Amino acid sequence: MTRVLPVPSPDSDAADALVVFTPSGKRGRFPLGTPVLQAARQLGVDLDSVCGGRGICSKCQITPQFGEFPKHGVTVTEDALSAWNAVEERYDRIRGLKEGRRLGCQAKVEGDVVIDVPPESQVHRQVVRKAA
Ligand code: FES
Repeated sequence: MTRVLPVPSPDSDAADALVVFTPSGKRGRFPLGTPVLQAARQLGVDLDSVCGGRGICSKCQITPQFGEFPKHGVTVTEDALSAWNAVEERYDRIRGLKEGRRLGCQAKVEGDVVIDVPPESQVHRQVVRKAA
């Protein structure tokens, strides 16, 4: 019997999820379970991390975006990222996380997702200074 193998496409693998970062627009496909911080690093996205992903520094904060994104050709469902884990809950309890924020080192990709990197999580963010 001849087995017909699916034709591999450079940009898609059914088992992988599409991750789009804004504002950079960098995108790539990653196996389910990939931490957002790891995806960002692999794509060269400017996302800070000081504690090495231990859930202490909170520099890796990201804001997942949900809904339809025709511009990116993606629909993001509520379960696109893993549920809050104990590390995030602890951080939120002690230091507080802004509404809608996740820790990029803890949240894992579970489906196609659009991830916004807020200015304070960008290492090379432009700092606007008021004129003296
Ligand atoms: S990298 Fe430090 S909390 Fe995520």
